[in-house]
Amino acid sequence: MQDERGLIEEARSLGSGYQLLKIAAPHAAKTAKPGQFVMVRILPALDPLLRRPLGILDARPPYIWLYYQVLGNGTRLLAGQRPGDSLDILGPLGNTFPELPGQRVLLIAGGRGIVPLFHYARAYGERRPLLMLYGGRSKADQQLLDRVLSLRLERLFIFSEDGSIGQQGRLSDGLEKILRDERPDATYSCGPEAMLAALAKLLKPFPTRDLVSLEARMGCGFGACQGCAILAANGTYRRVCDEGPVFPMEEIQWPT
Ligand SMILES: Cc1cc2nc3c(=O)[nH]c(=O)nc-3n(C[C@H](O)[C@H](O)[C@H](O)COP(=O)(O)OP(=O)(O)OC[C@H]3O[C@@H](n4cnc5c(N)ncnc54)[C@H](O)[C@@H]3O)c2cc1C
Ligand code: FES
Repeated sequence: MQDERGLIEEARSLGSGYQLLKIAAPHAAKTAKPGQFVMVRILPALDPLLRRPLGILDARPPYIWLYYQVLGNGTRLLAGQRPGDSLDILGPLGNTFPELPGQRVLLIAGGRGIVPLFHYARAYGERRPLLMLYGGRSKADQQLLDRVLSLRLERLFIFSEDGSIGQQGRLSDGLEKILRDERPDATYSCGPEAMLAALAKLLKPFPTRDLVSLEARMGCGFGACQGCAILAANGTYRRVCDEGPVFPMEEIQWPT
């Protein structure tokens, strides 16, 4: 982990509130692994509380790419930044999705949950075939589709709840058939909590190794404030920032 000054190289609005940033951040770019994230603050820092966790979409030194959805104050301010502006980039932070050489991995991405899985496919897809299931409420939630189509994947399954792209339905609607037909050894998921809770239920009877990347409100991003604690299945707490964000699915207490 290092705190560095990142310089925005490109800032693009992709539509429906989704933004893509290309940032020169040599340390993060050189050391980031799929699943990790950075804490981002606008410089000059107006408010120290406005540091926000964002996953790393891609890393090719000296650049990292971030893909984010404008939700509130922090992301709105970030969306106002332009090429040449500086950002404080703390990272890379958190654990990673393991490579699992030789194993068949199914990546399951809902909406902006594509970020760590895209990074995984970019980093390891050249070495072996990967499967991906990508979905959202509508086409508007899949702004990275062009880039996803350019990934090296053995199979890509696309779903949207309103049928505006791919097969109509939720990701969980197609999952059972894909698990039976494709027989992956492992699944890696990221997306809205309700989607992940549904996947956890569906995946239980299958013999796959299931990992999930979680989001939580964060203060520090490196284990100092307990602000990101979530309840584990055994009744203890886990810090998403430094014990995660990647966890075995069965370790999490999912809402029922
Ligand atoms: C490890 C990690 C990686 C992340 N990666 C990405 C990413 O790649 N792209 C992306 O778009 N977002 C990502 N997020 C979520 C992102 O951090 C929040 O959307 C952002 O902090 C919201 O800040 P804000 O000031 O705009 O919103 P706020 O004003 O703080 O909140 C606005 C609304 O967003 C909700 N919200 C805020 N923070 C979160 C959160 N962490 N999780 C879920 N809901 C939240 C609030 O409940 C509120 O309704 C990630 C979060 C974590 C923990
Ligand atoms: S955000 Fe501070 S401990 Fe996790």
